[in-house]
Amino acid sequence: MVGIPRRRLLALAMAGALPAAPRIDDPFTLGVASGDPLPDGVLLWTRLAPRPLEPSGGLPPVRYPVQWQVAEDSRFTRVVRDGTYTATPEYGHSVHVDVRGLRPDREYHYRFRCRGHVSPPGRTRTAPARTASPAALRFAIASCQAYGDGYYDAWRHLATEDLDVVLFLGDYIYEGAITSVGGDRMDSSLRLPDTFELETDTLDLYRMRYALYRTDPDLQAAHAAFPWVLTWDDHEVQDNYADGASRSTAVAARDFLVRRANAYRAYWENQPLRRPRQPAGPDMSLYRRFRFGDLAHAFVLDTRQHRSDQACGDNLRAGCDARDDPRRTLLGAEQRDWLLGRMQRSPARWNVLAQQVMMAECRYGGAAGRLDMDKWDGYAADRARILELAARMPGTVVVSGDIHYNYAADLRPRADAPVVAVELVGTSISSGGDGSDSTPQLDLQLRYNPHLRLANAQRGYVRCELGRDSMRADFRVMSHVTRRGGTIATRASFVSDRVRPGLVTA
Ligand SMILES: [Fe+2]
Repeated sequence: MVGIPRRRLLALAMAGALPAAPRIDDPFTLGVASGDPLPDGVLLWTRLAPRPLEPSGGLPPVRYPVQWQVAEDSRFTRVVRDGTYTATPEYGHSVHVDVRGLRPDREYHYRFRCRGHVSPPGRTRTAPARTASPAALRFAIASCQAYGDGYYDAWRHLATEDLDVVLFLGDYIYEGAITSVGGDRMDSSLRLPDTFELETDTLDLYRMRYALYRTDPDLQAAHAAFPWVLTWDDHEVQDNYADGASRSTAVAARDFLVRRANAYRAYWENQPLRRPRQPAGPDMSLYRRFRFGDLAHAFVLDTRQHRSDQACGDNLRAGCDARDDPRRTLLGAEQRDWLLGRMQRSPARWNVLAQQVMMAECRYGGAAGRLDMDKWDGYAADRARILELAARMPGTVVVSGDIHYNYAADLRPRADAPVVAVELVGTSISSGGDGSDSTPQLDLQLRYNPHLRLANAQRGYVRCELGRDSMRADFRVMSHVTRRGGTIATRASFVSDRVRPGLVTA
């Protein structure tokens, strides 16, 4: 074809003189998504996969042009931006369109087209202008969606909420085996390939795992309804990993970093993240900040990639002095300095720390009770620096995931200090199965940790609204998740004043 002008090629193709591109089945089986909203733009995502549970999504290793459109209306009569993106096999035929030139604080609709197929439409929203003074920011926090532990009806309910953005706080996939009927879903219509019984390790296995999760229609509905801002936790790579340290001491660091590189690459390919977030080998810069006018700054943190190895083992420990060692860090020095610096200079009324693991102290038992070394309790020096800053910065809100429980907590830099911030720990979407309102262990935690205002072990998400002077959080819980059709209800609601923080039952 070299030497034939583009216009002439097009004319030949129109006249049927060139072989038509081979037909493919519908490549939009994984749905669409948008994320990382800015005042003038948003990142649009999809991934071509006509046969999603096969390596490479069932596509040959060639490039595919994908057309995209952004419109002001859901019928796409007022298209304001469009273009073509080339999906390449190197990145799993993923599509990451960084749309700019949009208006702030507006709803938009988007869709893709490839080889005669049109994707389902998505809806998204840009952030308010930097100089705007929004009356409110509505968001939900969600995390932990083990496919084999239950259905995603919580996502279906979330998709009907009135939100500006979804904050996803980690464990988008789980790396362990899933049986051919989808684990506890026991879905007789499902027949997963045997490769799903392998723990993810290679790039292909991670890619197929994301593909399985993203074929779920309820998850697709939640992505199509709002822009998401995502961070990861451990299971996107391996349970309880820390920086370059595998959970298993038998794995050499260099081997684990190969696995981490595969996992990070598949993560970027499968999420609505911009090009600067693309990993370089086993490293991927994920922490970042979002601004919602003068109302809120959201600091999205990564407490996995840069942390010191857990002190005294990964789990519950009493009397572990190493947890106070100021040389140990959960954020890594670079991210911690970035966070403290940006927070200190933040002009916003609220500063939201969107991150993975519970920050509030949580004793399992009385004064000498055990603490969880995988959480901020295992990294007390980093926590103290943040909470000491929060004491001088009204409007600090920490949102967390990881443990598959709902908690509402008041945060203090020291036990005898006043409350300086509040924390909302959101339960899982499905991980852990149906759960229950309380457990004997949670009852004990409430008794020994008076700063905890709620402990609950059902599935769901937390809906939050930041106003100019106060915030509100509604803990939304599911009746069940191991069978389809679970219903949702508000288990508890809290408000907190911006200047005098402290959770009060609403
Ligand atoms: Fe989890």
